[in-house]
Amino acid sequence: MKFYANFKMNHTRDSTSKYIELLNKELKDTNSGDIFVFPPATALQKGEDKVVIGAQNGYFGKNGAFTGEIGLEQLKEFNIDTILIGHSERREIFGESQEFVAKKFDYYKKENFNIIYCIGEPLEVREQGVEALFEYLYSQFEGIDTTYKNLTVAYEPIWAIGTGVSATTADIELVHNRLKERFNVELLYGGSVKIDTIEDIAKIDSVDGVLVGSASLKADEFAKLIKKGLGA
Ligand code: 13P
Repeated sequence: MKFYANFKMNHTRDSTSKYIELLNKELKDTNSGDIFVFPPATALQKGEDKVVIGAQNGYFGKNGAFTGEIGLEQLKEFNIDTILIGHSERREIFGESQEFVAKKFDYYKKENFNIIYCIGEPLEVREQGVEALFEYLYSQFEGIDTTYKNLTVAYEPIWAIGTGVSATTADIELVHNRLKERFNVELLYGGSVKIDTIEDIAKIDSVDGVLVGSASLKADEFAKLIKKGLGA
């Protein structure tokens, strides 16, 4: 099982450093597998012990006239080689189109990054039934090389993000099993993963890991979630 913490626009440089220190301490006696933390851009730093640091976002370029963005040069300074692409908050709030997302994907693929590529449907699509659901999800793979060797796909239904209502294990299985069959990639689930739900989610065969927002923000609680997920 792999565990990914997406801080979104939370934590500072200082609090991220303390978080990493505490997380490593809490997990020192655990065979905890792969743990990734995605802090905001201002808190990027080199990872330590059990924790790999990734970027929540990056523009498709090394450097240049792109106000407000960070690119390859800024990521390399911290040895970052893992990036989230296609998160629904980037797509919905910041208006990133499929074409734009695919350009990022292509760029960071050429740079050999580990790409956590996020997909997920809004509630109104979910309510239209299974066919509409998969049509929507598959459209989020347009322009994406699903055979890329360092690709991980994160299925995060928008209606489950930040709502406290996780998808049911049946919902997750339905989507993950089909995605596995079609693309044969590593798959994460995200959307209100909590200490109470991690055990059931971790038991699903087609779930290789979880992408956690709010329940990852405190290091001691995230450590507990990890331990539970590992059955420790
Ligand atoms: P929550 O765990 O807060 O629902 O966020 C999930 C998410 O968007 C992770 O990328």
